[in-house]
Amino acid sequence: MAIRNVLRMGDARLLQRAEPVSHFDTQQLHALLVDLRDTMQALNGAGLAAPQIGVALRVVIFGVQPLLLAQEKRASRYPDAESVPETMLINPVVTPLGEAMEEDWEGCLSVPGLRGLVPRHAYIRYQGQDEYGALIDRSVSGFHARVVQHECDHLDGILYPMRIRDMTQFGYNEELFPGREMQDE
Ligand code: NI
Repeated sequence: MAIRNVLRMGDARLLQRAEPVSHFDTQQLHALLVDLRDTMQALNGAGLAAPQIGVALRVVIFGVQPLLLAQEKRASRYPDAESVPETMLINPVVTPLGEAMEEDWEGCLSVPGLRGLVPRHAYIRYQGQDEYGALIDRSVSGFHARVVQHECDHLDGILYPMRIRDMTQFGYNEELFPGREMQDE
């Protein structure tokens, strides 16, 4: 359908709490998901949340293809990353499983060119619905868990730099990881 403009940090719309979706399997919702997918793919992102394209609804998409992942591993932004199925998740609820936290590098399509070391829950359960209203309920870890937490943060107006503990671990891709391809969320 359309590749949409991605809002950048500093735009007040990225700081809002998004509203739940109340009607499923509608033309508007399907169109939103097509735009999210087209925009994420065009920008080679690992995930995208509706507020990032100026739509204040609790809708996120994410996914890392095996082929892209192989390139990523060579390039090597996520050397230990597992493949993440392409998922459209609506009205998500994230529940940490246990106390374990992990720090790893994140980027964001709304914070282009930068990367920071962000603590996330290592294990989570996430629940929500797909665009037809069917329930999604998964327990995941590692990179999959990280991407979901990053995207769901966007629904509450939280950008990853707000979660960085040590601001010395925040900088430009080219300086932190010279010569490497990067994928943003
Ligand atoms: Ni992001």
